[in-house]
Amino acid sequence: MSRLIVISNRVARVTEGKAAAGGLAVAMLAALKASGGIWFGWSGETKASPPEQPHIHRVGRLTYATMDLSQQDLDEYYNGFANSTLWPLFHYRVDLMSYARTNFAGYRRVNSLFARKLNPLLRGEDIIWVQDYHLIPMGEELRRAGVRNRIGFFLHTPFPAYEILTALPEHETLIRALCAYDLVGFQTENDLNAFRDYIRFEARGEVLGDGLFRAYGRTFRAAAYPIGLDTDTVEAQAAEAAGSRHTERLRASLGGRSLIIGVDRLDYSKGIPERFQSFENLMSAYPANRGRVTFMQIAPPSRTDVQQYSELRERLEHMAGSINGRFAEFDWVPVRYLNKGFNRRTLTGFLRTSAVGLVTPLRDGMNLVAKEYVASQDPENPGMLVLSRFAGAARELGAALIVNPHDCEGVADALQRALDMPLGERRERWEEMIAVLRRNDITAWRERYVDALSAMPEGAF
Ligand code: G6P
Repeated sequence: MSRLIVISNRVARVTEGKAAAGGLAVAMLAALKASGGIWFGWSGETKASPPEQPHIHRVGRLTYATMDLSQQDLDEYYNGFANSTLWPLFHYRVDLMSYARTNFAGYRRVNSLFARKLNPLLRGEDIIWVQDYHLIPMGEELRRAGVRNRIGFFLHTPFPAYEILTALPEHETLIRALCAYDLVGFQTENDLNAFRDYIRFEARGEVLGDGLFRAYGRTFRAAAYPIGLDTDTVEAQAAEAAGSRHTERLRASLGGRSLIIGVDRLDYSKGIPERFQSFENLMSAYPANRGRVTFMQIAPPSRTDVQQYSELRERLEHMAGSINGRFAEFDWVPVRYLNKGFNRRTLTGFLRTSAVGLVTPLRDGMNLVAKEYVASQDPENPGMLVLSRFAGAARELGAALIVNPHDCEGVADALQRALDMPLGERRERWEEMIAVLRRNDITAWRERYVDALSAMPEGAF
């Protein structure tokens, strides 16, 4: 079996059995353990003069290889081009996008550095799998360094409609780099369609059928691989966490009230202000909920060096304060707003305790919280998911209450419907959703992708 080489900006050093590991980390780790291999990426550290060589850490047949970055690299590559240009653009927020040539140069510099440092660690038959928007040029850089192995890429975010993408001054350079891979994976058919449009109308390439494309002098494959959960583990953890100390405390604090829950990184793509507004509308349009329903938003701060993120934080603090000021009673506070994270095991207990999971991103590649909410429910008495049509997960979870997050009155109506939904209907909808999550779990996702990449002819077309 060929070794697998995974490259991602963040490298999750996961210890077996540790609850804090996210689904992707668990999946990658399982894949890497099965085949042996390397997980390469940023160490998470900045140094005044970063060492030339990666830190190497071996656990059995798996090697972690991580690079420190300089502050300039971090500012231009991570805070700059990745998170101030590509992230807003890929989430359809051209208004929030900022572009500077220095940042693009820094992005390319770090990708080239990673490729040069990874190259000596590679063997001829290794399969290379690059993850996410931070590392789009990585494949081309590896090719430039003489790597002939099969190289695949998976985009965890949305791929924007091509008219949006062309707002990026360097769109052609970026998409040309994407075409250097043997297999490009997207979350949904929607993303794949947007990519196909770009290839057809902008790159003047050819769509050959059977997932094959020809553009910029290369032939490659592109397809949709919707990412899943380690569903069994989440189900088991949630059942166990139902009786945990944290869950007990949460339940006791609710005093029999229904809980609506939101869990997101503090990010403008998640539609949290609109969600707060929708909850406020629920309180005003359906006053019977006052004193009977609590909304808990868990939002750990994210990318705090990027200005839009600190602005969002201030805005939400203000909104939570104003809703509570308007509706709170001496024995009930409507909004619990928490700027901190919890480990995954604890979260599954919180999700299971919630009558409604409110997942309303304005744009999201997949949104695994939506899936985690479903997998965490008690099969005998499942809660209801209210889900944005703009999350990739909506394509698989059509049995949720699907909403338009911009329609804050419509979301309030959906919340009321979820709170009122009879047990029989909740069970029916849940059965439909959990079946999808069990079938397309993270192992199935990884195998589908790796099998397709392995089937590509070596040395590319
Ligand atoms: C999204 C991205 C990931 C990223 C994560 C957390 O899910 O697709 O690549 O790792 O956000 O963001 P951060 O900037 O903290 O790595």
